Amino acid sequence: MRTTVGIIGAGPAGLLLARLLHNAGIDSVVLESRDRAYVEHRQRAGILEQGTVDVLRAAGAGGRMDREGLRHDGIELRFDRKRHRVDFPALTGGRSVTVYAQTEVCKDLIALQLKDGGPLLFEARVDAVESATADAGSGDRPVIRYTHEGRDKTLRCDYVVGCDGFHGVTRTVIPDNVRKTYERRYPYAWLGVLADVAPSSDELVYAHSERGFALLSMRSPSVSRLYLQVPNGTDPAGWSDERIWDELDARLALDGDWALARGPIVSKGVLPMRSFVTEPMCYGRVFLAGDAAHIVPPTGAKGLNLAVSDVTVLARALVRRQRTGSADLLDAYSDTCLRRVWRAEHFSYFMTTTLHTDPDQSPFDTRLQISQLDRITSSPHAAAELAENYAGLTIG
Ligand code: FAD
Ligand code: DHB
Repeated sequence: MRTTVGIIGAGPAGLLLARLLHNAGIDSVVLESRDRAYVEHRQRAGILEQGTVDVLRAAGAGGRMDREGLRHDGIELRFDRKRHRVDFPALTGGRSVTVYAQTEVCKDLIALQLKDGGPLLFEARVDAVESATADAGSGDRPVIRYTHEGRDKTLRCDYVVGCDGFHGVTRTVIPDNVRKTYERRYPYAWLGVLADVAPSSDELVYAHSERGFALLSMRSPSVSRLYLQVPNGTDPAGWSDERIWDELDARLALDGDWALARGPIVSKGVLPMRSFVTEPMCYGRVFLAGDAAHIVPPTGAKGLNLAVSDVTVLARALVRRQRTGSADLLDAYSDTCLRRVWRAEHFSYFMTTTLHTDPDQSPFDTRLQISQLDRITSSPHAAAELAENYAGLTIG
């Protein structure tokens, strides 16, 4: 098989890139190691920045998002048993975010691709990418080797894009002496649960407490998504439903009238926290996008949004190359993306370290966190800095 753009991975990055290229008349093939049901049902992110919503809509993938997504104009920061609202449109000149789950974004993009797009192969595991720096003049091309239906297969491409997540194979194409990585680990993880109960707040609540961080989020008007800071290595089986609700109650507690509604917990999982960046995000004719190139801790909901901004920049660059012959945007791809990536890395680190309790934290550290939260919720300048980062900078 041969194609213009070989895309490895059918997460949000790979699926959206395929759609953007299809809309511009550029053919691609998407290879995904897991089956369709797995990709459509794994519980992950839930918050779309304004720019992500705009890109999905412009790509023709926004119909259900516009009908079912919930527009949110702010978040609540809860600390010292008090609530404080950060108003996004007022602080950012009208920007907001939308609650629409990653599972639904993937379902919408898969349906479009299977209806009228190029090939999207599930259970097609990529084993290697070869000839990344093949020179177009020589007639040579990068090659993807993959396994599908029990057979070894080859896909010859003009360009290869690794959208294969943190555990993918594409990143290893960049030689060790070219690739630089930056990493930070955190001494805690998140226990995430999905509960069949109406959310107890209209907006997301990020709660600082000396018992640890808690987050109240949602998937729909009848489904809550909740997170608790837990120690690394936590086994979700050790957390009964009652223990989870009790702990959420304790961490979200307020002076005043507010109650957390309980309901059946339908899924539980622990997710680790890591900051990670690979530079550069390309090598020869091979490009990296999304989690394949960078990971953020989830506080602040940047992971999915970064994947979307990477492929938006890359699609524009590939279209320009095909239409005009100019590789200027492709050459700038890594630098363009990394600027935004490092902003999101800083913001996610800031949100994480301001809201979580480090096991070695001193009372002094806690007072600094509270002072920082107090500053954000009493100064419009400090609040605007959070709001701009959360609702998202413009893509490009
Ligand atoms: P992915 O969604 O990881 O997609 C990569 C795809 O590549 C996968 O489908 C994988 O199966 C496929 N693949 C991998 N290797 C191969 C191969 N060799 N051959 C073929 N295919 C391959 N962000 C938030 O903002 N909030 C959250 O609550 C949140 N929760 C998360 C929970 C978990 C467990 C994880 C892992 C991430 C979470 N994130 C969250 C981050 C967010 O989901 C990611 O940033 C987002 O999925 C990135 O999209 P992607 O397309 O780059 O990568
Ligand atoms: C969600 C995840 C986040 O990391 C976050 O900051 C807000 C919401 C969510 O899954 O709903």
